[in-house]
Amino acid sequence: MDHDLDAHLADAAAAIVAAVDLDEVRALDAELLGRRSVISTAKKRLGGLEADERRDAGRRLNEVRAELERLLDGRRTELESDERVHRLESERLDLTELDRGRRLGHRHVVTRTWEHLEDLFVGMGYTVVEGPEIEDEWHNFGALNFPLGHPARDMYDTLYVDYGESMSTLLRTHTSPVQIRVMETTGPPIYSVMPGRVFRSDTADATHMPVFHQIEGLVVDRDTTFGDLAGTIQAFTAAYFGADFESRLRPSYFPFTEPSAEFDIRRPDGSWLELGGCGMVHPEVLRACGLDPEEWQGFAFGFGLDRLALMRHGIDDLRELFRNDHRFLSQF
Ligand code: PHE
Repeated sequence: MDHDLDAHLADAAAAIVAAVDLDEVRALDAELLGRRSVISTAKKRLGGLEADERRDAGRRLNEVRAELERLLDGRRTELESDERVHRLESERLDLTELDRGRRLGHRHVVTRTWEHLEDLFVGMGYTVVEGPEIEDEWHNFGALNFPLGHPARDMYDTLYVDYGESMSTLLRTHTSPVQIRVMETTGPPIYSVMPGRVFRSDTADATHMPVFHQIEGLVVDRDTTFGDLAGTIQAFTAAYFGADFESRLRPSYFPFTEPSAEFDIRRPDGSWLELGGCGMVHPEVLRACGLDPEEWQGFAFGFGLDRLALMRHGIDDLRELFRNDHRFLSQF
């Protein structure tokens, strides 16, 4: 009997190791430990043995049974963990493909120029203020000393908005109306820059667009002089373009500044580029904003951001900035 049990245990152990899945282990469990198993049958026969023999045979049967249970449990655990690994492996998502060729975008050249200028002026102690793109006639013209019917209004090809009284509402033609808004809402001293989008009824060509960007500067303080204006323009030119760039002012005319000037910058190759307008804030403009010109003086300047971006990056057609051709824009 012992011999038979040893052989049975050896066969069973081999079968258990060979089991390929949990179903097979379950079937072996029933076959080796169930009611009709070799063990159960042998146990039933114990009753017919002598007491001594019965005790030894019974102990041996229990040992074999315990060994079979241990082997079955072990194999079951093995297969369960195999199955888990297998399942994880089969459910795994390969995401590496998505990462291939990934490209991050970046801010548009004009946005970067805009932010760069804000940073420069903030560094010089200015605040940044923005105003509305749809303006009323008063802020865009009236308060800036362009009386109704004044020929200087024709300098701007204004796009009017069909709202309220005829020609009372428009798309701002420059950022200068924000000067008025700043003076109306905050008292002097004022040191502010006002970047934004402006609109003119222009046909798009290499140097004109119906929508473009300007940045306006306004300083109002006691004893502000034209020298402060020239110094500020020069400080900005050197900070933005580099120490080898120079600026110059040429007499000009704007209704809201007196005296008025255009300012140019000189490139290292000696050529001059016209950048924008500037001047001392006209006393009528200060008065329109409730400030006494005897007590307060100021200067203002305004220039186009797009042209600055073109120049800095050596782009020769303004329209490229608005075409949104990724192949073009990604170069900058
Ligand atoms: N607003 C003027 C323009 O767009 C520029 C300017 C701004 C001139 C401030 C003088 C002072 O042409």
